Amino acid sequence: MELISGNQIAADIIDELKTEVASFSGRKPCLALVRVGDDPASVSYVKKKEKTAAEIGVESRIILPPETITQSELETLIDDLNADDGVDGILVQSPLPGDLDELAIFRRVSPAKDVDGFHTVNIGKLAQEDDTGFASCTPAGIMEMLARSEVDLRGKHVVVVGRSLIVGKPVALLALQKKAGANGTVTICHSATSDLPAITRQADVLIAAIGRAGFVTADMVKDGAVVIDVGINRVPDSSRKSGYRLVGDVEFDAVSPKTAKITPVPGGVGPMTVAMLMKNTVKAYRLHQS
Ligand code: GUN
Repeated sequence: MELISGNQIAADIIDELKTEVASFSGRKPCLALVRVGDDPASVSYVKKKEKTAAEIGVESRIILPPETITQSELETLIDDLNADDGVDGILVQSPLPGDLDELAIFRRVSPAKDVDGFHTVNIGKLAQEDDTGFASCTPAGIMEMLARSEVDLRGKHVVVVGRSLIVGKPVALLALQKKAGANGTVTICHSATSDLPAITRQADVLIAAIGRAGFVTADMVKDGAVVIDVGINRVPDSSRKSGYRLVGDVEFDAVSPKTAKITPVPGGVGPMTVAMLMKNTVKAYRLHQS
């Protein structure tokens, strides 16, 4: 079994971006990070994004509206960022609290600044294999990890568990693309799938994006499979200062000995998401400048 280190691959990408950003004269790329309310996981993710941006030389603008913000106030805030020529990329951290309509907010972001790749236009471009759009960060990070670990999906059965807009659907589209490294045969499973373990057992590459700790057990995985664990679940742990530890959607200890390659949690897909966000921000900057 080989561990695929997202930490290492993300660090390589960050180094590449650092060099690229250093070569820009004048204004640096700028990413607006919008976090509504104080969800603890979101606080930690946005902090990480801010820190990585600083490391690369990408400017970040942190906008922290209270959870009492209304839909129309949040839309106005997005409109202002869309119109701001100093802003290249806009990210609205998900999930949004309360009754805020997340999809409407994702669609409010200008497609040219949608570094998350959640806008209808960018999902459409992904389906059309038009590389002028933005692919969502976690799915793009998974593809980058596979490519840099010499896993070619051509002719492989890729099974995705989870059908979210943020991971399941876009990663399935990427794995399906007619381009080097992709060309997978893709199955998407979800909560209404019958006999899910029978399908996951057929996976040459299994992508777990369910959001439930330890959902994927050893009996659900074929010997020699490549397993990508997208889950980041907090489980109570009184031995930790924080009171919790992070675990994936895969029962790592039982599953990992069966696999050819597997990503750990933490240190797997998580850091890749942030690296690809920076890559998309630099892409948005380049398109904006041209
Ligand atoms: N929440 C979990 N993952 C993501 C992501 O990639 N982007 C945003 N905006 N929110 C998230």
